[in-house]
Amino acid sequence: MKSLPRIERKDHGFSFLLEDKAYVILGVEAHNSACTSRNYMEHVWKKARELHCNTVLAPVYWELLEPEENNYAFSMVEELLEDARKNGLKLVLLWFGSWKNGHSTYAPAWVKTDPKRFPRVKNEAGQTTKTLSLFGSELLQVEKRSFVSFMKWLKQLDDKEQTVIAVQVENELGVLETTRDFSDKAAEAFAEFDGPNEEAFMALHYAKHLDALAKAGKEVYALPMFTNAWQKEYENDRPGTFPCGGPLPEVLDIWKENCPHLDILSPDIYSFEFDKIAAAYVREDNPLFIPETRRDKWVVPYLYRSIGTYHALCYSPFGAESIGEDKSFINQKIHTNASDTNVSSPVIKDYLAQSYEMISRMMPMLTERYGSENLLGFYQEEGRSSSQFSYGNYRIRIEYYHEVNDDNAYIPGAGMLLAGGSLEDAMLFVGYGYKAYVEPLDAQKQIDFLTLEKGIITENGEFQTRMWLNGDEQHVQMEEEPTVVKVQFYEY
Ligand code: DGJ
Repeated sequence: MKSLPRIERKDHGFSFLLEDKAYVILGVEAHNSACTSRNYMEHVWKKARELHCNTVLAPVYWELLEPEENNYAFSMVEELLEDARKNGLKLVLLWFGSWKNGHSTYAPAWVKTDPKRFPRVKNEAGQTTKTLSLFGSELLQVEKRSFVSFMKWLKQLDDKEQTVIAVQVENELGVLETTRDFSDKAAEAFAEFDGPNEEAFMALHYAKHLDALAKAGKEVYALPMFTNAWQKEYENDRPGTFPCGGPLPEVLDIWKENCPHLDILSPDIYSFEFDKIAAAYVREDNPLFIPETRRDKWVVPYLYRSIGTYHALCYSPFGAESIGEDKSFINQKIHTNASDTNVSSPVIKDYLAQSYEMISRMMPMLTERYGSENLLGFYQEEGRSSSQFSYGNYRIRIEYYHEVNDDNAYIPGAGMLLAGGSLEDAMLFVGYGYKAYVEPLDAQKQIDFLTLEKGIITENGEFQTRMWLNGDEQHVQMEEEPTVVKVQFYEY
């Protein structure tokens, strides 16, 4: 019997273990309605294969799994698993249950139409909203029963093969368009609440609901579980302009304390403040796991940064089938501006595919450095042509080849530095679109190249030399497309 996929914290960092081997999810998330159609899913499988993904993140819908109370219909998910296996892909299933994006659109009709058993959130004006309330409701009881039935069924179907490697519980939950739930029962609970504000109040109650679901689900099938958060656009955004109560940075402590059965709290990162958000989720008690991010040209540099700097366990742009396409497969609509190189350029798809392929081959090299100083990531920020960081006794200066702006098709440059361990004194630079300068921090010291090799990473995960660079070509100079360069210096 294989051991189950699990998240482990060792030394300084986290690992996602699949059959006891460290794994990084190089994924894509399908569009929301994709999994309701087996035919449509062909677009997703095709794109995931072309991109060299190892995993697809795909929703399962409470309303379709339990169309009548206590009467389940899991065949749609069975087909999903069959097709993922045929395509050699793993799955992360997203449980679209009581809440999605601050609303409750995926709850079954028998829940939506019974406000006595399942009351709604009321806003400040006392109006009923589209969001199911946590207070004075049978929701937890029925959702728990449903989630447990689903996890039981999944275990029976999949615990040998382990196609499904993790489950997201709910999606971007929280209350939208109101600062908190103002229904009578919620108001009673709020009056007794001893916390700082509305957001903390909602976070506490959502965290408890999700903890009960995750605990019950894991009791029958202990897969890694997580939930994701819609981020604020601006620091001082009013609760309700974002789903209030979701696991955002300012309420992560409340979530961690009240929802110990979720392994991970995840950010969806669409913002250009990528680093600020990513860094807020890397904590002693939480690894970075990005189930959703942009699919424009930033998808490639953010990948290198996520793995290199934040040692992420999952990276996954949203809208799998749309990556590098000029139209939507759902409604066949041509993108508003099909020539917009930021969204529809096939170059994005090529760079992501090459990067995913290279990073998959490097998996052991990368994961053995997770949680250590020996793996660093960098990328070209908007309006910048260089970046700089330190590694050990060295200062590393990166100069990028191209200016990045909305009118050109260049993908912002990005890379990673690997060192230490089996590389001994050598350094490995990977990535594209940059030149790296390595200088001693100590101004009294002088170094020069001892060896400089351009190569590839083989399917066995080893560096293989393709060219020795010397003389005029003795620079850490990457190609336009993902490259690997191994370099060793000596002091003179
Ligand atoms: C964030 C949600 O979590 C996804 O399910 C999807 O609706 C995207 N937004 C669309 O951009």
